[in-house]
Amino acid sequence: MHVAIIMDGNGRWATQRAMPRAAGHRVGVDVVRKVVEAAPSLGIGTLTLYAFSSDNWRRPAAEVSTLMRLFRSRLVSEVPRLLANNVRLTAIGRRDRLPLALGNALGDAEEATAGGSTLHLRLAIDYSARDEILRAAQRLAAAADKVTREEFGRALGGEHDSRPAADVDLVIRTGGERRLSDFLLWECAYAELYFTDVMWPEFGPKDLEEAVEYFQKRDRRFGALSAAG
Ligand code: IPE
Ligand code: IPE
Ligand code: MG
Repeated sequence: MHVAIIMDGNGRWATQRAMPRAAGHRVGVDVVRKVVEAAPSLGIGTLTLYAFSSDNWRRPAAEVSTLMRLFRSRLVSEVPRLLANNVRLTAIGRRDRLPLALGNALGDAEEATAGGSTLHLRLAIDYSARDEILRAAQRLAAAADKVTREEFGRALGGEHDSRPAADVDLVIRTGGERRLSDFLLWECAYAELYFTDVMWPEFGPKDLEEAVEYFQKRDRRFGALSAAG
């Protein structure tokens, strides 16, 4: 099962508690660890987490740099745990606009965890689904009339991953909004959508389990008729 999560609500969670937004982001990264560790036992083989959208560059510089520093320091400190849990980490999105230290930390974490086989954890950082689709189309333009969906999906993974982008089975968005905010638009063609009002800093393994239970009750027809008749 491929689950993709839009981790939203850090800022509002903190503001409601009269704390700076950065405090919400810090608690948010602790939640990531708990969710990553709970995922395999719920049948999740691939977990894609939306950490920073390409539109998030539009936020105040101080918030952006706090996030970039937080991503880098956690990436570095979490590698041993990822290895212990047999997790393979990769990133999707643009690398060329990230601080050098973060880009390096991503590359190092990808290399160190390449052998992980219990969970494939994908971090979406400086990610825009529309940009990814556009870039894949540009890369394949010369042979456009012969390209299959599979090949297009492979190109969507960017230069860093040669496997085709896996279809998403379940999207979870925390924080109360009911939109995709430019996340995995191609891969979500038949995804089930689960929205919760729980703010990301308060999300936990129990909430993840509830979302998976919701998913298991869905009748996925893919345009055909129900197997149950
Ligand atoms: C999600 O929380 C984290 C990022 C976008 C980096 P937000 O920062 O969007 O929190 P809200 O939506 O303002 O509460
Ligand atoms: C989407 O959340 C991006 C991430 C969770 C990383 P946003 O908070 O940026 O989305 P909008 O602005 O509410 O659509
Ligand atoms: Mg938000």
